[in-house]
Amino acid sequence: MGSKYKLLPHLAEAFADVGGNTALDAFSGSGVVSYLLKQQGYSVHSNDYLGFPGIVAQASVVNQTVKLTATDIARITGPAADDRDFIRRTFEGIYYTPGDLEFLDAAWSHIATMRGHKRNLAVASLCLAAARKQPRGVFTISGDLSHYDDGRRDLRMSLREHFVARAADYNAAVFKAGAGHEVTSVEVADLESRRYDVVYLDPPYAPPTDDNDYTKRFHFLEGLSRYWVGDTIMAQTKTHKLPKRVTKFSSKRTIEEGFRDLFKRFHDSTLVLSYSSNALPDRETLLGLLREFKDDVEVRVIPHTYHYGTHSTAERRKVDEYLFIGR
Ligand SMILES: C[S@@+](CC[C@H](N)C(=O)[O-])C[C@H]1O[C@@H](n2cnc3c(N)ncnc32)[C@H](O)[C@@H]1O
Repeated sequence: MGSKYKLLPHLAEAFADVGGNTALDAFSGSGVVSYLLKQQGYSVHSNDYLGFPGIVAQASVVNQTVKLTATDIARITGPAADDRDFIRRTFEGIYYTPGDLEFLDAAWSHIATMRGHKRNLAVASLCLAAARKQPRGVFTISGDLSHYDDGRRDLRMSLREHFVARAADYNAAVFKAGAGHEVTSVEVADLESRRYDVVYLDPPYAPPTDDNDYTKRFHFLEGLSRYWVGDTIMAQTKTHKLPKRVTKFSSKRTIEEGFRDLFKRFHDSTLVLSYSSNALPDRETLLGLLREFKDDVEVRVIPHTYHYGTHSTAERRKVDEYLFIGR
């Protein structure tokens, strides 16, 4: 999800330069940056307005000791505990094979009875399994996706096999460091104004054209993370999406105001902001906005290639990644 995985060494250096004990990752996404902050000894607050990044952060950052046992994994991948079939009925013919969809219902028949970090680990593993099997990892495309088939083994494995592998990955990621980690799932405008030693901001990039709606890209993972309980699916959409959520970061008309509000709210923390050279606002505008609240603003430029995109968007993929540090 626009993951900062490849930029982690640069982020680690920036966080080490800033130092301190408390950190906010305000747009946590895949959770890799929160996980890095935990490794660097920070007490981490992860936030994302989507729910599934919160579950991922619970499983891998807040959770310090709990793992799924072989028995847990065998139960989740074994026969269903009830006859639920919501996923099979709703997503038939859209993303996965009937067997894969049936597995997701069956897995949830067990996960629904689990609690705490075991449940967080199971849901995180299920979401990662579903993401890996989806070509390009985004749910804006459906139907016949054979032209996206690049021969990756990930696309051939069943979701059940994926789940077993991903659960092992999450188990291996569990470790103890720091204390007082927390997770919230709110729109950034609703985050409490608090002082942290580091506030890391990796907001959606507003491309000059197109939109940056994360619900559109990841609606399936969001629904899957709670078995669509409480959700209203847009039944008229081909891919059975969840409704978009409009915020100041959704449009280039309002994004500057979104940044200004955010910088103001966390003006007494050191701000570390990731942004891309092919998005709006541009570097000079962001510098100006940061200088409204910070005396000392540094920009580090990191050449970066995004890992998702088709040939037609290849142009867009070779961009510089900026790291603004405002003290
Ligand atoms: C660029 S991604 C973050 C990627 C993350 N740093 C990583 O390495 O995986 C932006 C994230 O912000 C979330 N998001 C978008 N608008 C938001 C808002 N207004 N409030 C909170 N989270 C938001 C999206 O769900 C998405 O996960």
